[in-house]
Amino acid sequence: MDCHVAESIAIIRCFAVNLVDCKSRTGYAASPHYGTARPAQGSLPMSLTPPPRNYTSCNVGHIPRATRERLTGQRALTLWMTGLSASGKSTTAFALEACLIDQGRLCVVLDGDNLRHGINRNLGFSPEDRRENIRRVAEIARLMNDAGLIVIVSLISPLQVDRDMARAIIGADRFLEILISAPLAVCENRDPKHLYAKARAGEIPDFTGISAPYEIPHAPDCILETTSLTPNEAAIRLATLIQSRQKG
Ligand code: ADX
Repeated sequence: MDCHVAESIAIIRCFAVNLVDCKSRTGYAASPHYGTARPAQGSLPMSLTPPPRNYTSCNVGHIPRATRERLTGQRALTLWMTGLSASGKSTTAFALEACLIDQGRLCVVLDGDNLRHGINRNLGFSPEDRRENIRRVAEIARLMNDAGLIVIVSLISPLQVDRDMARAIIGADRFLEILISAPLAVCENRDPKHLYAKARAGEIPDFTGISAPYEIPHAPDCILETTSLTPNEAAIRLATLIQSRQKG
C-alpha cells in the first residue's frame, strides 16, 4: 500500500478512536448533576461557569492513549482521594507517589492545598468554588491520564455529586474513588494547621465537617482507615489496587 494512503488510514482510525472515546464520555455532557450546576449569584465570572450541556472537552490528539500506554508500560488511572481535612490524604498521596516511582511507574500528585496556591488561587470554599476547584482538577487529571501518567488526586471533594462529576470528566473506567477515612474527632485532634480550632472559634466559615457538609462516598473502590494504617501500608494497598487494574 502507498505509504501516504497507509498514513491517511492511520489518521482516520485515530480520529475514529477519539470520537468513540468522546461518545463514551457523554455521561459528562449529559450528567444531570453537571447540567444543573449553577454558580451562586455573582460568585463566579462567566468564564468559570460550567460549559453548556452539549460541550465535550474531547481531546482529538494524534497519538492514541494505547500508544502512550505501550510506551510507559502502564495503564493511566486517576486515584481520587477524598476525606476530611487532616484525614491523611496528602500524606497517603505522597507516600503512594514514592512507592509508585520506586516501582518505575510514572505518576503525579494533584494536591488540593498546593493547587490552591496556583491554578485555583482565586477559589474559596463556597459550594460553587469547591465545585469549580474539583472540575479544574478533574480536567487536569484527564489531560495527564491522556499523557500516560497515573494521577493521584488529594482533595476533600466533600460532595458525592461533585465527585461524580470528576468521574464523568475523567472517565469511569479510569477513575478510582478512595476514601481516606478518620473520625472527625481524630482529624480535629490532629489539626496540624490549627484550622479546626479556628473553625470552632468561628474564624473560618464553611469548614468541612464543622460548618460545611462532608458526604461519605456511596461506593468507594477502597477505604483506608488512617487511624490503623501507616502511610506506607496505605500506599502499598493502593499500589496493589493499581496493579490489579493494569491490563494483561
Ligand atoms: S475542596 O473541598 O475544594 O476539595 P481542597 O481539598 O481543595 O478542598 O482544600 C482543602 C484544604 O484547604 C484543607 O486541607 C485546609 O488546609 C484548607 N481549608 C481552608 N479553609 C477551608 C474550609 N473552609 N474547609 C475545608 N478546608 C479548608
